[in-house]
This record gives sequence, C-alpha cells and structure tokens, in this order.
Amino acid sequence: MKKDKKLIVANWKMNPVTFVEAKEVFLKTRKVVSTLKNVDVVVCPPFVYLPLVQRLTGGKKHIHIGAQNSSSEDKGSYTGEVSPVMLRDGGVEYVILGHSERRALGETNEVVCRKAISALRAGLKIILCIGEEFRDNQGAYLGFLENQIKSSLVGISRASLGNIIIAYEPVFAIGKKESDAMNPRELLETVLYIRKILFSLYGKEGMEEVPVLYGGSVGEKNCRDILSEGGAQGLLVGHASLDTEAFRLIIKIAESL
Ligand code: 13P
Repeated sequence: MKKDKKLIVANWKMNPVTFVEAKEVFLKTRKVVSTLKNVDVVVCPPFVYLPLVQRLTGGKKHIHIGAQNSSSEDKGSYTGEVSPVMLRDGGVEYVILGHSERRALGETNEVVCRKAISALRAGLKIILCIGEEFRDNQGAYLGFLENQIKSSLVGISRASLGNIIIAYEPVFAIGKKESDAMNPRELLETVLYIRKILFSLYGKEGMEEVPVLYGGSVGEKNCRDILSEGGAQGLLVGHASLDTEAFRLIIKIAESL
C-alpha cells in the first residue's frame, strides 16, 4: 500500500446469507472503485463467497479480497479450519485476524500470534485487530492495548512490517449508531499511543510503515472526521459495508481527503 493512500476494508462478518445478495453487494462496491486514486478497498466476505468475489473482481486494481480468519496451521487434521496457504493460492490477499468477535469465542493473543505468523509466511497481508472492551479512568486500558499488540506480534520480524496493518476497534463502539463511534480526539490519542508501541517494537520504520485503521460504527456521517482528525489511515467497516449506498459514500469521502 502506498503511504498516502487510505485503506477502506469491508468486513461483511456472517452476511449476507445468499450468493445472490453477496454478488449484488460486491458488484455495487466494485462499481465505486473503478475511478479511485487515493483509496484501496478490501472486501472480506465469508469464506464461501471468496471464489465468487475473486472471479468478479475483474482485474480492478483498487479492489482486493480478504478473508475474515485463517488457521494457524498450513494443512492437516483441523476440521472446519481454513489454511492461509489455501487462501493465498485462491487469490486472497488479506486476512483479518484477532477480531473481537473471534476473541469473544476464545481466541487468545497467543493464538492470534500463531495465525499471524502462518498467514505472513503464506504471503497474506494481515489486518490485526486490537481493542479494549471498555475504558477505565485509571488508564488500565492502555496496558491492555500494549499487551495485545506486543503478544500478537511475538516473533514477527521487521521484514514483515510491509504486510501488517493494525485495526483499532474499541469493542464498546462496535455495531452501534454512528454517534457511538469513538470521537476523533480520543481516537487520535489512541492511534499515537499504538504508534508509540510500534516504535518500541520496531523503531521508526515500524511506526511509519504500519497503517493503523479504525473500526467501530463507521458510517458516511462520521468517516470524514475519523479520517481527517482521528489520525487513522483507513477504516474497517462492518454493517455499513453491506449498505452499498453508505459504503459508496464512505469510499468517496475517503477519496476526497
Ligand atoms: P461495525 O462497523 O458494524 O460497528 O463493525 C465494526 C467491525 O467490527 C468491523 O470489523
């Protein structure tokens, strides 16, 4: 990703429930990206739709495909799992790892780290999700974030930095109204804090190379301030990415900044 480009990621989660709808949402999104200069868009549908959307990309430069999870193992007896090697072989470029909805199912930092190492080895770009569940007045959430970042990146070298994106998603702001998203001032403080941790791990290069995205109730009304004042280099968009008109506006606003 070019440094000054914004990255807008659509996390469809477990939606929509039919191939017909998936195709419709994807084609509408594809239409928007054809003229973009300043924005790259990544669409992350459920696994079953990956071959479909992959076929439909039609060689468009600004639209990329991502998965929502991948196994920490390359192959073997892991029923229900999907290998990062398979994803890469199928043309997938990105994978979301450590989403709070997966952490809520029991995924630990250690598991996320193993998945990150395997995904990077397979040649995928990882979108590593971090975020505190709540904020306390004493600032314990800062230690929580530091631990999440550091323990998810154990053993990951500086050479991989170009393939790592951090998505900061405060759990309390996910799946709500736009007015419940984190305000840009608090977001900016947090993005700077995340950069400081990246600096402590990887030096200046780490701080500058790894894009930090924001996710949590992003919509067409709040995305401008989040991007221009919140210090985020992109967005991880959940429910608004399935509302094709809202997503079109988000992309257009990001492109105009
Ligand atoms: P919403 O945009 O629906 O709040 O979801 C955010 C998210 O979890 C994206 O990964």
